[in-house]
Amino acid sequence: DKGGWSSFMAKEVSEQPDAVANTLRGRITDGVVTVPELTAFGDDILAGVGRIVIVACGTASYAGAVAKYAIEKWARVPVDVELSHEFRYREPVLTADTLVVSISQSGETMDTLMAVKYAMAEGTKAISICNTQGATIPRESDAVIYTHAGPEVAVASTKAFVAQITALYLFALHLARVRGSLTQAELRAQAAQLQAIPEKIQIVLGEAPAIKQLATWMSDTRAVLFLGRHVGFPIALEGALKLKELAYIHAEGFAAGELKHGPIALIEPGQPVFVVVPSPRGSAHLHPKVISNIQEIRARGARIIAIAELGDAAVLPFADTVIHIPLAAPLFEPLLAVIPLQIFAMELSIAKGLDVDQPRNLAKSVTVE
Ligand code: F6R
Repeated sequence: DKGGWSSFMAKEVSEQPDAVANTLRGRITDGVVTVPELTAFGDDILAGVGRIVIVACGTASYAGAVAKYAIEKWARVPVDVELSHEFRYREPVLTADTLVVSISQSGETMDTLMAVKYAMAEGTKAISICNTQGATIPRESDAVIYTHAGPEVAVASTKAFVAQITALYLFALHLARVRGSLTQAELRAQAAQLQAIPEKIQIVLGEAPAIKQLATWMSDTRAVLFLGRHVGFPIALEGALKLKELAYIHAEGFAAGELKHGPIALIEPGQPVFVVVPSPRGSAHLHPKVISNIQEIRARGARIIAIAELGDAAVLPFADTVIHIPLAAPLFEPLLAVIPLQIFAMELSIAKGLDVDQPRNLAKSVTVE
């Protein structure tokens, strides 16, 4: 039931504040993150983890790529993010203190299931982040943190993605608490940032009409580039994936720091480039570097669509379009910056007359290799 929306995707995009709020429910006690499922798994095991390997495919892997920044910063544990299908066929090194964390909306993705099974057969503990109660991957794992995004029907993942990042941040903060790597005040501050996200996503959803107009203007675009830095990099990759799968447009995401190492050669007059701009306050060291990237590509004719923090005046003179997101600490920006990219891909698909819920050649759950 689309509940009055024109597509499941539109409905699911609109449900993202609830997806985050429901995933947080019952996991923050007295202002500090305590995930009961992890307590049951064993805080002593978590305290002794020396390395984390995240396995996932597609959009779920980008949630993992975002979480790498948070887990390493807060819990000070090294994190590798691996595509499940690359992980399982190369005899990966799994030391006794490695923890595998899988991410899967469906809980049925064959490659991710096999990656988890491989790791567990080697004696590694495995935690699953999953949106489907009782699915195969959580059943095979030592513990599961369910995302409570509700059923996701549209093939393209949206609300599951923000719920995955939320669950991974809960994991990271639980880990930081049991390892003592953050102070009580820091733990509280991060939990408060998480709790403020649903309301901020709601504000970003208010940009939808402007994004729709942009997508309508751009409906004959043949290629779109996405740039991001730090946690904005996986968001650029996710923006490109959404556009490929929904609008069948060639799209690529890059780390902004890589521009000079090759991708800048792609810039020609009129080339649309989405740029996820880090906060000028929270990322004072990165913000000017991204602004200078924007200037470099603008000078070569790129058409800049900036996703920028409300009040970021530095970006205004160089962007053709600015989509604003509310203020948030840098690690929380992905939960906001991804929303306009989802809406853009959805609206471009609709503008091209495509089936936004059922893109060609794709299945919701990839249970074969
Ligand atoms: C993209 C998308 C896919 C899935 C991927 C993993 O919008 O939906 O990239 O994220 O197939 O699926 P799950 O999370 O079910 O393992």
